[in-house]
Amino acid sequence: RSIVILISGRGSNMRSLVEANLPDCRIAVISNRPDAAGLAYARERGLATAVVDHRAHATRPAFDAALAEAIDAHGADLVVLAGFMRILGVDFVARYQGRLLNIHPSLLPAFPGTHTHAQALAAGVRIHGCTVHFVTPALDSGPIVIQAAVPVLPDDDPDTLAARVLAQEHVIYPQAVRWFLAGQLQLTAAGQVRLSAGA
Ligand code: GRF
Repeated sequence: RSIVILISGRGSNMRSLVEANLPDCRIAVISNRPDAAGLAYARERGLATAVVDHRAHATRPAFDAALAEAIDAHGADLVVLAGFMRILGVDFVARYQGRLLNIHPSLLPAFPGTHTHAQALAAGVRIHGCTVHFVTPALDSGPIVIQAAVPVLPDDDPDTLAARVLAQEHVIYPQAVRWFLAGQLQLTAAGQVRLSAGA
């Protein structure tokens, strides 16, 4: 099986997926930024890597098309967004419907968008966390696959809170991908998540 992981930066979620030793699976990593730190790790691990630089494409549809071409070159069964900081168009999302996952650092539907940890602190919530969801055209609002919660502690700042959440991201993303690869996780035609028990 083939998984393509899309990154823009550090790539710690990508690393957690690589280190999860997913069964029978080839992983390729594509970045929209040539200088993404995660690319160096992927190369060191001997994974296939590619760069599709958004700055080299005049329009969003042109970038999306180039990205899809790079993904399809790997025959991807599953496309995993892991800190990928470009918004993808409806055509792109439709093309990978049911095989496109994202991780978002909040308990959706709370705090979509960016700066989620600062948003959580400003709102005064006592519980925060992260969400893996199927991607749909509306930003950060696709059907939820798995979430993990962490406490917000009195002395937290956005960085300490982010670190606590990130540790959970590294647990739930490999879990979601394992379910998908085992055929236990599906997006139904009605747009709902179906999660079935393991064998
Ligand atoms: C993660 O918190 C992810 O949820 C968010 O951006 C961050 C990426 O971190 N979308 P990394 O590149 O996976 O280390």
